Amino acid sequence: MGYVKAVDGVSFVVKKGEIFGVVGESGCGKTTLGKGILRLLKPIGGYIYFEGKDIAHIKGKALKWYRRVTGIVQQDPYGAMPPFMSVKTILEEPLRIHGVPKEERKERVIKALEEVKLTPPEDFLNKYPHMLSGGQLQRVAIARAFILKPKLVVADEPVSMLDASVRVETLMLFKELQKKHKVSVIYITHDFSTAKYFSDRISVMYAGHIVEIGPAREVINNPKHPYTTHLIKVIPDPNPENRFTFKETLPGEPPSLANPPPGCRLSPRCPYVMDICTKKEPPMIKTSRNHYVKCWLYARQ
Ligand SMILES: Nc1ncnc2c1ncn2[C@@H]1O[C@H](COP(=O)(O)OP(=O)(O)OP(=O)(O)O)[C@@H](O)[C@H]1O
Ligand SMILES: [Mg+2]
Repeated sequence: MGYVKAVDGVSFVVKKGEIFGVVGESGCGKTTLGKGILRLLKPIGGYIYFEGKDIAHIKGKALKWYRRVTGIVQQDPYGAMPPFMSVKTILEEPLRIHGVPKEERKERVIKALEEVKLTPPEDFLNKYPHMLSGGQLQRVAIARAFILKPKLVVADEPVSMLDASVRVETLMLFKELQKKHKVSVIYITHDFSTAKYFSDRISVMYAGHIVEIGPAREVINNPKHPYTTHLIKVIPDPNPENRFTFKETLPGEPPSLANPPPGCRLSPRCPYVMDICTKKEPPMIKTSRNHYVKCWLYARQ
């Protein structure tokens, strides 16, 4: 049997209270990375440190503690919420599991609904997921992710299934809560345009590798990796005059992760490919303060 290494050799540090964006095309390993970090998947190798503790191998009580200090918001709120539970039960469940006394729970649920601006909360407590719009239900998901006062939340494409009209306000609300509670957030998306204003730093993933990391503005305005440049070029521009033509995008498709190419994984598609790129995997190279790129073009020869 063959193995798919969906995420391989990825290394980064997320700071306290920071929004760390992970941007990449479908299938590059973003969800696998997010679930690995939250220990919803068990990594087959490597380490994940959280406040100095390696959580890649914890179980039992330690894992329960880790569940308490982390939260998740997924792409499809209808898929992520049990359809037979009311909003009240959905929000109360994590409090109950983690031993918050009954008297305190109702107050916390009401407060959580107010924080995500589902008001008056009494109007929402007894609603079931199918009775809410996608935007409203995603707010319930956000409230649930924050209700235990976590230290880290992974948001995996949290607005990509919502109506375009509510995407920005949902992200703003998310950011407001993130700032208020000083939570670190890993924001997973295929969409550079939201990553740009939502994230403090951005990392770009290609075929299971992180190929560039830097401050959001720096990565967008001054991308270094040929793949990042390609992604930025394909952000749709509302002005038809400015639209990039298809020719400027990279040829071909991302590789199969069951059988990735040797050397740099972009090498079969890269317009700047050199001999070394097809033979040896590039290291992460520092190009300026806090800006790193995994590309041989930036290595000192
Ligand atoms: N359980 C599994 N068995 C085999 N392959 C898997 C499994 N889970 C994920 N993969 C593969 O691993 C790769 C990464 O998947 P992942 O879901 O992490 O990508 P993604 O970046 O989140 O994609 P999307 O943007 O579509 O959500 C894909 O090629 C996928 O087919
Ligand atoms: Mg995914």
